[in-house]
Amino acid sequence: MWRCEICGDPYIGENPPDNCPFCGAHRKYVKEAKEAKVNFDVELNEKDKANAERALQVEVSNAAFYFCAAEKTDDDEGKLLFKALGKVEEEHASVWKKILKLESVPQGKDPCYTSNRKNLEESHARETRAIEFYKKAAAESENERVKQIFEAFVEVETDHLKLSEERLQ
Ligand SMILES: [Fe+2]
Ligand SMILES: [Fe+2]
Repeated sequence: MWRCEICGDPYIGENPPDNCPFCGAHRKYVKEAKEAKVNFDVELNEKDKANAERALQVEVSNAAFYFCAAEKTDDDEGKLLFKALGKVEEEHASVWKKILKLESVPQGKDPCYTSNRKNLEESHARETRAIEFYKKAAAESENERVKQIFEAFVEVETDHLKLSEERLQ
């Protein structure tokens, strides 16, 4: 059994996954379950708390957009892509929920397009904004765990950016 040190979720398999199947964190964060160090009980200073709250909003909003696009986009592969992306962003929201010690994740209600190309462009814009903000938040944080999560999510959102870039060519 394997466990992701970013989201804390366990994975059963002969070999570790290349990316956490839940939050998309890269291989270096996936450890043998009994050795994984997962901590959500962190002291947040004002800056980290504000950044974590904003990150939660970003993830909730992006998850809602992707789940909308998974239903409405006019392309079969696009439907699957947006569903997969929605699940990852939902998991990111849940990480911030745990860090912020909230009872539940708020519901997003972002709209989307029927045009797959427009949804890909919107995805590209959203991921670009998330990456910029997370890079800044990682640099600003003095807390090792908060920094680690922001850095891991910069990598994951960069993977997402590549998916829309490939399809928009
Ligand atoms: Fe995300
Ligand atoms: Fe993303």
